Parts: sequence; C-alpha cells; structure tokens
Amino acid sequence: MRRPALLIAFLAGLTLLGPAARIHAQAVSPPEDPPVTAAEGGQTLDDILARQRGEGGARPLRDIAAPAAGGTPPGAGPLGTLGPVSDSGQWDRFRHGTEKVTVSAGGDTAKIVIQDGGMWWQKTRVATAPWGGYLLLAMIVLLAVFYLLRGRIRLSHGPAGITIARFSALERFAHWLLAGSFILLGLTGLYSLFARQMLLSPPGTANTEAAILARQGGAPAETLLAYTKWIHNNVAWAFILGLILVFVFWVAHNIPNRTDLVWFAKGGGLVGKSHPPAKKFNAGQKIIFWAVILLGGSVAASGLSLLFPFDLPLFGKTFAVLNQLGAPGWIGLDPLPEQLAPQEEMQFAQLWHAIVSFVLMAIIIAHIYIGTVGMEGAWDAMGSGEVDLNWAKEHHSLWVEEVEAKSSAGSTQATPAE
Ligand code: HEM
Repeated sequence: MRRPALLIAFLAGLTLLGPAARIHAQAVSPPEDPPVTAAEGGQTLDDILARQRGEGGARPLRDIAAPAAGGTPPGAGPLGTLGPVSDSGQWDRFRHGTEKVTVSAGGDTAKIVIQDGGMWWQKTRVATAPWGGYLLLAMIVLLAVFYLLRGRIRLSHGPAGITIARFSALERFAHWLLAGSFILLGLTGLYSLFARQMLLSPPGTANTEAAILARQGGAPAETLLAYTKWIHNNVAWAFILGLILVFVFWVAHNIPNRTDLVWFAKGGGLVGKSHPPAKKFNAGQKIIFWAVILLGGSVAASGLSLLFPFDLPLFGKTFAVLNQLGAPGWIGLDPLPEQLAPQEEMQFAQLWHAIVSFVLMAIIIAHIYIGTVGMEGAWDAMGSGEVDLNWAKEHHSLWVEEVEAKSSAGSTQATPAE
C-alpha cells in the first residue's frame, strides 16, 4: 500500500516542479522565432489532428497538397517538393547563411536564398496597396466635395473672343509626353502592385503545381501582368525625357517670388470670386511643378534602381547624407542604417517608389481636375496652346502685362478667336 502512495507523491512533486523546470529552460534558451500563423500559411493544431484522423478539410501542408485534391505529389514532376521529408536543417542553414550555395549568375548577392530580415518590408509592401488606394480615393472624394461646394471656376466677365498664345507646340509636346507616360506608368504600376497580390495567389488558395504550370502556360491575368510590366519598364524612358524637357522649359517661370505670398494670402482665388495677380505660373502651379520635378525625379531614380537590380544602390548613401545633417534627430529618430545589404537596398527602393508614386498620383489627380472640369478655359492652354484673353487676365494678369509690354503696340501676339 505504501508503494502507490509514494508513487503518487512523486508524480505530484514532478507536476509541481514541471513549470519551474520549464521556466528555467525558457530563461536560458535563445529567443524563439514567432510561430508562423495560420494566416501566413502555418498549420494549426486542428489541421494536424484532422489529417491524423484522415479527415478532409485540413489545409494541405504548403506545396504538398494530396494528388487527389489536384495538388503536387511530394517529389513528383519538375516542381515537386520533398514534402514531409523536406530537410528542415537545410532550410535553417539557408536562413542563417551557413549553407554552401553555388550560383551560375548574380554573384554573392544571389547566394542569399532566405533573407528573413526582409519580413518587415514584405508586410509593409502588402500594406502599401490598400493605403495607397485609400489616399487616391480620399483625393477623389475631396475634389468631388470641393466641386459640389465651389462648382466650376468660371470666367467672371465671360470670354473676350480674342486669344493669346500661352504654350508653344514644343512646350505642349513636353507636357503631353510627361502626362501620357505618367498615366501609363501609374496604371501599369497600380496593376502590377494589385494584380500581383490579388491574382497570382488569391488569399486562402494553395500554390498548387497545376496553378504554377498554368501560369507558365500564360493564364490571361498573368499574361497581362507580364505585358504591363514590359510597358512600365519601357515607358519609363519617355517619362524621364518629359521630366527633363518640362524642367528646362519652365524652371525659370517657377522660381518662388513675392507675388506667390500674395496669391496664398488670397487663397489663390479658389475661395471667393477675385483672382490674385500672377505671372506665367501662379503659386499653386509652382507647387505642382516642383512636386512633379522632385517627387517625379525621385520616383524615376528609385524606378531605375529597381530596373537595374543591385546595380544602382541609392539608399545607404542617402541615409549617410541624412545622418550627417542630423535629419533623423529632427523627428526624434535614431540615425538611419548606412550599411545596407543589396536586398535591403532593393526593398527600400521598392517601398519608396510605390509610396512616392501614390503621393504624386494623388497630387496629379487634383491637377487633372483643375485643368478639366474644375476651371473654365484652362484646358485650352494645353489643348490648342491659345487661351482667351479674359481668362489670361483673370488668372495670370502680370504675365499678360509682360507679354503686352514685350509686343509692339496693338499686336500683342493676340489673335482673334475663330
Ligand atoms: C523613370 C520612371 C520609372 C521607372 C524606371 C520605373 C520602374 C519601375 C519598376 C522596375 C517597377 C517594378 C515593376 C515590377 O517588377 O513589376 C515599378 C513598379 C511600380 N511603379 Fe514604376 N517606374 C517609373 C515611374 C513610375 C511612375 C511615374 C509611377 C506612378 C505614376 C510608377 C508607379 C509604380 C508602381 C505603383 C509600382 C508598383 C510597386 C510595387 O510593385 O510595389 N512608376 N516601377
């Protein structure tokens, strides 16, 4: 009788000691990686138990769906996997850079098979699509509200019936080259960002061999993705050329001056009926110009960095300059990292490219609004290049005075409207 009692006492002691022993073990072992969640494709206990009971409904292990379910049989075919016999030790060595990797191209950079320091980037990238979308929608809603409140900005005294030359054919060519390429780049960039996330691997679907082979055979959405990427990469050159031409033609007219302060003080004529004086470009247009030049230039630079992977690293050097200026401290940040791995350079380039593109697209939507529905007479400036004299006097009075002063009396480059 005493033996069972001793055994029970011993087991009870073990139960009490258990947690303490485990706590000790936790204290000395290195921190564990956070488990992969079900949303990230990890297996849940329910999945494992369901599979052990031989029930359907359990999500297949990644890439090893049962052949009956149309998945990839372990080890079969060119895309077959090792399935449950996959060597986790090898993946661990890949991850920590201790596996010997040989590559036929790409040098040392291509030898990094897993770069889990990039998880923050992956998560941020996935978030840029919805947040960027909200930004564009917010701008559209804002403009719609503005339109409802203010209506179309009309000519106070109606058209004069006489036009004045505003932009030469070359200036308009530069503008439309920039605008046309921008719209194409915006649409193809958006398609590439959204389609990649939504079409290539719809949430909750397994990446089966059948799906991968269908893609290689050119499923419509993926084929379109390949075309849009090709358009994006090539139209980029037209955008760069347009940017340079527009800069050269208009920089002199976009240097800030004192009239801009008056323009701002009077709300730019957007509120109320009177229009403050302005030269060829008013302060609002100057903001658009510099946003296009600076943000567009930055989008182009990061785009080139993406176009020539690993060959044009920009961020380590930029961060070094910012650190020297002490810029991170201005907003309470620690110095930025200056030594970036090639993969990190690409990650920063991608995020910067996408985020700045969204900001610029939002600004350009407002620009398009003012140039079309928002303001009577504005479209003609970039359409025919000739604007009504009354429109010119209302919106750019100082410019009209300059043009008239330059012209000989009576022939102010003004031509009767047809
Ligand atoms: C010189 C100009 C540009 C170059 C060289 C360039 C290059 C690139 C490259 C190489 C990519 C990655 C494409 C891929 O792998 O699928 C990309 C993505 C993208 N680009 Fe551009 N681009 C330029 C201008 C623009 C402009 C002006 C916009 C916006 C109006 C834009 C918006 C985007 C967007 C939204 C993406 C998707 C980002 C992502 O996949 O996360 N790009 N660009």
